Amino acid sequence: MSNPATSSETATPAVTPEDLLAAARTVYSNAYAPYSQYSVAAAVLADNGKVYTGCNVENAVYPLTICAERAAIFGAVSDGARRISAVAVVTANAGAPCGSCRQVMREFGDDEMPVYVADLTGNATRYTLTELLPQSFSVDDLPEK
Ligand code: THU
Repeated sequence: MSNPATSSETATPAVTPEDLLAAARTVYSNAYAPYSQYSVAAAVLADNGKVYTGCNVENAVYPLTICAERAAIFGAVSDGARRISAVAVVTANAGAPCGSCRQVMREFGDDEMPVYVADLTGNATRYTLTELLPQSFSVDDLPEK
C-alpha cells in the first residue's frame, strides 16, 4: 500500500496561477455591469484547497455594487474558509484591484500572498499583497482583547 503522504494518487493537485486565472475567466461573462460596462472576474484559492470565483455585481444604487474580488472572498468565507493563499483577477485591460478589495484581501491573506492580474488574453502580472497594500492596517493594529 502506498504512503498517503507521498502518493500521487492521493495528493491534492497544486492549483497553479494558470488554473486560478482560468477559474476566474469562467465567470467573466457572468459579470453584471450594465452601468460601467466594465466586467471583472476573480478567483481565490482558500485554505481548504477549494477555488472560489466571483464577478462584479452592480446596482442602480451605484454604491451597492460589489467587486469581483470581494464576491469571491466572501463566497469562500461563507463556505467556511478563513484564509486565502492566492487571488486571480481578470479584466479586459488587466486593471488592478481597488483599494477596498486590497483591504479585504489583507483580512484573509498574508503579506506575501500572490495576486495575479491578467487581461483576457492571459497576459498576467504577479504582485504580492504587500506590494499592492504597503503599510497596511490589520487586526495586529487593534488593541488586544
Ligand atoms: N470593480 C471590481 O469588480 N473590482 C475592482 O477591484 C475594481 C472595480 C468593478 C466595480 C464596478 O462594477 C466596475 O468594476 C467599475 O468600477
